[in-house]
Amino acid sequence: MKIINSIIHMQALAIAPERNGRCITFVPTMGYLHEGHASLLREGRKRGDVLVLSIFVNPIQFGKNEDLDRYPRDLERDCQIADECGVDIVFIPTAAEMYPHGFQTGVSVREISLPLCGGSRPGHFDGVSTVVAKLFNIVRPDVALFGCKDFQQLAVIRRMTSDLNMPVEIVGMPIVREPDGLAMSSRNAYLTPAERTSALCLFGAITRVRELFAAGEYSIDVLTREARAIIEQEPAAVIDYLEFRDSSLLQEVEVADSSTLLALAVKIGSTRLIDNTVLGENL
Ligand code: PAF
Repeated sequence: MKIINSIIHMQALAIAPERNGRCITFVPTMGYLHEGHASLLREGRKRGDVLVLSIFVNPIQFGKNEDLDRYPRDLERDCQIADECGVDIVFIPTAAEMYPHGFQTGVSVREISLPLCGGSRPGHFDGVSTVVAKLFNIVRPDVALFGCKDFQQLAVIRRMTSDLNMPVEIVGMPIVREPDGLAMSSRNAYLTPAERTSALCLFGAITRVRELFAAGEYSIDVLTREARAIIEQEPAAVIDYLEFRDSSLLQEVEVADSSTLLALAVKIGSTRLIDNTVLGENL
């Protein structure tokens, strides 16, 4: 497994003649890898010839008062997991090289970036789409894999690659959960044991809504009330948003159907967690 820090070096490996017609699969991450990332890497391994993992805590997708400085990092462990998953190249650029003095270009995907996390974290998706566009230009992947836990991020990236005719196939992979239902996230590392227990209210709300929907309840008002009630029972939990949207364009819906997305962001103490489910799809 090669570890590469320089953009030029990574780009040189990605273009002919070194590439030699081989399919590059790519998993972009901010590191502190967990089983969710490992599932993307294993799928990436199956789908291509050269598997590239990037690790870059992207400063421009964090707001001023967010957790950029304390975002968890453990490069040694990340490289060990990468190796076990069959990664060929780990690309770890520096912020100074990604955003040199004078950098001023951004990619902004308009409507789909605005609701949900875009409302709570203004500018977040501009930061994500800009760095992903840059990473695609550097790594030149044929296939890139993203987790569905960041449902809106996946929708933004699909829109960007389609709108800008980027020659890359985007693959969304199912959410990976702990045995008790908590969606895996690098930010789970912030939770104290008591907060870890409180955080189960997100999955509790999702489970309740799915049960009600399966029993024929399609009213968004009822489903919203029931989901909110479960989270509000938890003293440490503060709802940032809890919304039902259509899963393709993320527009508001009045009546739930099998393609309806329930998306939620909840603060547990100082940690903001997100989760989601599409009502007609498997968990
Ligand atoms: O999902 C993430 O880890 C990040 O948002 C991504 C896609 C690597 C861009 O920085």
